[in-house]
Amino acid sequence: MEQFAVPCYDLCLCFFVALLFYAVLRAVSGSGSKHRRLIGLRLPPGPWQLPVVGSLHHLVRGLPHRTICDLSLRHGPLMFLRVCERLAIVVSSAEAVREIYKGNEALFSERLSSPGIDELSRHGQGVIFAPYGDHWRLLRRILMTELLSARRIESFQRIREEEAARLVSSVQAKSSSCGGGLVNVGELLDEFMTDSAVRAIFGDRLPDRAAFMKIVKQGVSLASLFDLRDLFPSSRLVRLLPRGSGKAERHRQEMFKLMDNILKTHQERRASTDGDDEHDLVDVLLRIQEEGDIRVSLTDGVIRAVLIDVFGAALDTTSTTLQWAMAELVANPIVMHKVQLETRRVLAGQATIQESMLKDMHYLRATIKETLRLHPPAPFFPRLCLQDYKIHGYDVPRGAIVLTNVWAISRDPKYWDEPEMFRPERFEGNNDVDFRGMDFEFTPFGVGRRICPGIGFAHASIEIALASLLYHFDWDLPKGVEPGKMDMTEVFGVTLSRKANLFLHPISYVPV
Ligand code: HEM
Repeated sequence: MEQFAVPCYDLCLCFFVALLFYAVLRAVSGSGSKHRRLIGLRLPPGPWQLPVVGSLHHLVRGLPHRTICDLSLRHGPLMFLRVCERLAIVVSSAEAVREIYKGNEALFSERLSSPGIDELSRHGQGVIFAPYGDHWRLLRRILMTELLSARRIESFQRIREEEAARLVSSVQAKSSSCGGGLVNVGELLDEFMTDSAVRAIFGDRLPDRAAFMKIVKQGVSLASLFDLRDLFPSSRLVRLLPRGSGKAERHRQEMFKLMDNILKTHQERRASTDGDDEHDLVDVLLRIQEEGDIRVSLTDGVIRAVLIDVFGAALDTTSTTLQWAMAELVANPIVMHKVQLETRRVLAGQATIQESMLKDMHYLRATIKETLRLHPPAPFFPRLCLQDYKIHGYDVPRGAIVLTNVWAISRDPKYWDEPEMFRPERFEGNNDVDFRGMDFEFTPFGVGRRICPGIGFAHASIEIALASLLYHFDWDLPKGVEPGKMDMTEVFGVTLSRKANLFLHPISYVPV
């Protein structure tokens, strides 16, 4: 998902570049006059600011979600930040999230835009960065009723079961090939998620799969690169600065070529079978395009952009969650023991796992929730305020970014007992707190109209992969590493992922 903040080294670079261009920018972009309209407003408190870069220098240390959380503890659950030309209100309490997104949500359903984001998002043709309007409404309806509906997700059940069985075989094979040694579990979970998503979205017959994956990975690293135009969106001068080596443009062209190939093979197959069979999401979109009874036309360009968005949004988020879940379980042997007991009681005697067997695994589901609470893959969800607004007596100016710090709220002792502990029990019994956007202290998938439409897809994949790993294997840490001393360092990139590779020692319990 898009993030408001950028990696530290990029921020430092930006800080110096911004100061260098200070005098010229003021003349060319007129940023001073832009902020004159803030005079007289009662803005939330915030840290002190420098000319031009505003609060940027407060953000260059440490990981953005933690730094911003520390600043909010000093300044309050509504905090004002100015980062160059951007104004942001950071929201760090469930009460403020409720006040914003209950009732007045339409005013906060717009995503950020800037020349950099426009280029990366193919000018909002996809869904993630689409401006809040008819185009987004149409695509959202297609996502909810067709592409990611409960029925469609169920139809991918066989794919998930096959891929989970393949994951188990791969663990077994890798472990045997290195004499029962350590296995890079993160890498295998990445493969599981990639293969499940590729098959569901593009089908089994993806031409040149290796090239496709290489290009997707490049796209992800390009998306996390810092772009000065995002901090000075109105500056003509910044727009004139040299733009790297045209990497983004070359990447877009290559991606389009591959996507066109995928569409062509699907169109040919559909023509030869009268479009009767629907194997994957490409088929579904082509069928809707052929029916042609919708207000906004679903061109090949829009289909391409939607497919890239859905695939990009599905991969890292889900795989990162799986990796944190396994890491927390080996770091907390009592929780691991309890979830394995449940898995092995429910699945006793089964050689392979089917999804229908998982419905009674309440503790496994609580474990997934607890992982998303401590490690939300998207620690912020940013929206744009479309109209001057008041929250808790403070003014939120039109055009300000409203940045909800999901990570900070999910660890706030006001809502959670011993918030730093990994304790799935907190989601058991009478506690029906859920992540579907109604409980504002727990919003790893966002809230409101733009809440993640892939919750069902993600949850089904995480559930079967975890159940399979826990049923078939016991897991040991590398020699000499104590559970309490595991490296849990985070990296802030496209998602909040693990810095260290997750190497574990699998011991077969139910042979494959
Ligand atoms: C653990 C896994 C995932 C997490 C934590 C996650 C989280 C999020 C978040 C925080 C947002 C922004 C919501 C907001 O602004 O309120 C979002 C949007 C989105 N997600 Fe996910 N996501 C996950 C998996 C998926 C999957 C599997 C798919 C597709 C198969 C997906 C597709 C999307 C799309 C298309 C959007 C944009 C929605 C819009 O703008 O209307 N996500 N996700």
